[in-house]
Amino acid sequence: MIYFDNSATSPVDPEVLEAMLPYLKEEYGNPSGKYYSQAVHARQAVEDAREKVAALLGKHPEEIVFTAGATESTNFIIKGFLDYQRYYGNGKTRVVTSKAEHKATLNVCRFLNGEIYSNQDATMSFFGENPRVDRGYQAAFVDVHEDGSLDLEEFQKAVDDSTALASVIFVNNESGAINHIQEISRICREKGAALHLDITQALGKLPVHKMDLDCDFMSLSAHKIYGPKGVGAAYLKEDDYGIPPISALLHGGEQENGLRAGTLCVHNIVGFGKAAQIALRDFEENSRRIQEADEYFVGRIREIPEISLTNPSPRRCPGIISLRVDKKDFHNERFIKSVSQEIAISTGSACSAGEPSHVIQAMGLGEYVNKILRISIGKNTTKENIDELVRILKENI
Ligand SMILES: Cc1ncc(COP(=O)(O)O)c(C=O)c1O
Repeated sequence: MIYFDNSATSPVDPEVLEAMLPYLKEEYGNPSGKYYSQAVHARQAVEDAREKVAALLGKHPEEIVFTAGATESTNFIIKGFLDYQRYYGNGKTRVVTSKAEHKATLNVCRFLNGEIYSNQDATMSFFGENPRVDRGYQAAFVDVHEDGSLDLEEFQKAVDDSTALASVIFVNNESGAINHIQEISRICREKGAALHLDITQALGKLPVHKMDLDCDFMSLSAHKIYGPKGVGAAYLKEDDYGIPPISALLHGGEQENGLRAGTLCVHNIVGFGKAAQIALRDFEENSRRIQEADEYFVGRIREIPEISLTNPSPRRCPGIISLRVDKKDFHNERFIKSVSQEIAISTGSACSAGEPSHVIQAMGLGEYVNKILRISIGKNTTKENIDELVRILKENI
């Protein structure tokens, strides 16, 4: 089985597994415990991991809150910030996002907008079956260009004086489009709106640690950078008093500065820290490998006349390649099922599996939703893997 679904999740790095194991065996202490060695070691391990994750972002450890992943971080940030602003801050209640966000963002904004109450009825509400409720918040969903990147003119119009927060994906998980973060943050700053970036797919592929991203919040996840599943982080920029303006995600104990209660998942956090350390340590090497593999694949794909890039823009993040198969009887779901014994590929986001991609539709390519394949390359992808993939595509589409 050759793995080409690294944007859905990535294999745990052996170094990460090794780092985690002691915290599932002898180092089982609760990091909130006191004095005895297991508790102290667990606490130290968590703080060490926090430093490593912060370093990967080029930010301070105090600004990192551990969560269960990017979906949780996004929920925490958007709901928590809007609640805080409404009741304790400037009273603003509007959030602006794009139509090509990950569902984690899209459905949080639709929830706040009173369109849905769960994720399953998100689909029903497309058909107008759900009555809308007034949760006291408003959400705007801005158009994207054909490559999946945010339409900055529309964004500028949407971010108004009542906007508390804009929430934007850095690298689109289906098209690989890289959004113009400098412009986006300039627009937000002009209007006094805060900015949340979903950097889940950018991490490990773009040099986020050197970019000094001008934003207030970020969401990220360990399992996209060869760490374990079920752990991620929220970056919360500190204000002048070191207190981020956000309501708690989980009310309960004092963990994570009182913002996310509950016993910390120490082994996962340690694994995340190790994955972040490796991502930073090997950044040049791995990003070069992914870039080269991407170029090689894109070159070889030209041998198949029916296949083209869904996003041919030069501002595509290496490693995320969306293909369009222009063949009358080709159906993407059928295809990935038929080759699933040999290769792991997807039609798009794993979180939207089973329904037509909203990202492809937002890109104006709705008529091709059944013709799209996503190939995502990782640091372990070899030239031989790509040759095999090209052979399978040639023989089976
Ligand atoms: C861009 C983006 N945001 C958020 C998520 C959700 O991440 P998690 O699985 O950690 O909740 C994903 C994962 O597919 C993603 O690609």
